[in-house]
Amino acid sequence: MKVLIVFYSTYGHVYKMAQAVAEGVKTVAGAEVEIRRVPETLPQEVLEKMGAVDAQKAFSQIPECTVDELTEADAVIFGTPTRFGNMCGQMRQFLDATGQLWANGSLVGKVGSVFTSTATQHGGQESTILTFHVTLLHQGFVVVGLPYTFQGQMRMDEITGGSPYGASTIAGGDGSRLPSENELEAARFQGKHVAGIAAKLASV
Ligand SMILES: Cc1cc2nc3c(=O)[nH]c(=O)nc-3n(C[C@H](O)[C@H](O)[C@H](O)COP(=O)(O)O)c2cc1C
Repeated sequence: MKVLIVFYSTYGHVYKMAQAVAEGVKTVAGAEVEIRRVPETLPQEVLEKMGAVDAQKAFSQIPECTVDELTEADAVIFGTPTRFGNMCGQMRQFLDATGQLWANGSLVGKVGSVFTSTATQHGGQESTILTFHVTLLHQGFVVVGLPYTFQGQMRMDEITGGSPYGASTIAGGDGSRLPSENELEAARFQGKHVAGIAAKLASV
């Protein structure tokens, strides 16, 4: 049973969450996990102005995803930073290249799930994931979130990401906040949860 984690990250927050999701997947017997990044679409000059060049070196060794790899997975877990409350353009462009898969029904019945990162607490954590789900539903994915059995999303003693829609982290206005242990735990939980459901579906 194969789980593919497909992410985009400018400064590394989503990448850190992706690594935690992969840890969660690996706890499920028989689950194989691969991490892939979607291609960058911004010109180098813009990335330099954004201060992203050095940050992206930390995950430049991760292979770029091809749309065909989606067809080989039993479950796909997508990670995207928010852009104005929606997924980032890089992810949108990648998904917009899956028209042929849609036409062939290639992704129907696979498990799909989403995690995210925002700068601010209420800057689009939930809307980014929920609007992403619309694309997954068009493609026929069985959408899976982060159930409340992950009790860490009930916490009131610290600022934290995480909702029933999926794991999330809050990067801070200047990006200096790293994913907290609670947010990483949410990501691990989501990975394990998705892999567990995919394993059950694969056995039917
Ligand atoms: C064009 C643009 C739009 C953004 N829009 C939002 C937003 O609507 N809400 C928010 O909280 N953060 C917003 N951000 C901040 C990013 O979501 C933040 O940098 C990201 O979550 C960090 O994750 P990363 O390190 O994986 O790139 C925006 C950033 C950019 C560049």
